[in-house]
Amino acid sequence: MRKRIVIKLSGSLFGLEDTKTLKQFAEFFVKSSKICQPIIIAGGGKIARHYISHARSSGADESTLDELGIEVSRLNARLLIFALQEKAYPHPPTNLKEVANAADSGLIVVTGGLHPGQSTNATAALIAEKVRASAFLNATDVDGVYDSDPRKNKNAKKFKKIPLKNLRSMLVHQDSVAGGYDLMDIVALKVIERSKIKTRILKADVKTLEKAIRGSPEGTEITLV
Ligand code: UTP
Repeated sequence: MRKRIVIKLSGSLFGLEDTKTLKQFAEFFVKSSKICQPIIIAGGGKIARHYISHARSSGADESTLDELGIEVSRLNARLLIFALQEKAYPHPPTNLKEVANAADSGLIVVTGGLHPGQSTNATAALIAEKVRASAFLNATDVDGVYDSDPRKNKNAKKFKKIPLKNLRSMLVHQDSVAGGYDLMDIVALKVIERSKIKTRILKADVKTLEKAIRGSPEGTEITLV
């Protein structure tokens, strides 16, 4: 059996005006599917946050806002499914069991969020656990984990590796509200830890993902010691 690789794709890729980028990703996933089985989780990105902030201003509760975010991530997943055509499982699964069944088809699986109260990062970790993936690649709009925000501090230093417990202490002060989950959330870290999932945070571009799949990865590895 081909090894399964779980890839969280940043929601930022789906909000782009151009239609080319997503097609390039689709081509890459089709090519990669000869050596591994990609299981992809689409993020919600700006569009999810737009809906969430509108609905929040009308007084919707947090779990309803999470559900809005999930719906947007599922729409994003469908965009990628269209681009993958018959190489993809035809619809985004709605729960972990369905993800496992979809993965058994051998096709490329693309899903969005599954449960309120977490981010697509946590969902991706749960999926990696469920399908016994050999790696979890969190492809995001930054190229790894830094000691401070690289968008605000030009001297920020990138870690090649970071122990999970250090990442956890960096995240404790983070918001846990709809649309506000960051690079990783606490649920994702718990799952990575308990199932010892090989996890890496890296830039969401085709070249970077290709290197990771071919065994010369960039970005930041999360270590379990
Ligand atoms: P994301 O995880 O995509 O957040 O889900 P994001 O901040 O846009 O991440 P990037 O930019 O893709 O990396 C959007 C929102 O959908 C809800 C949460 O409210 C989340 O902030 N969501 C998503 C859930 O409640 N459960 C899920 O399983 C996934």
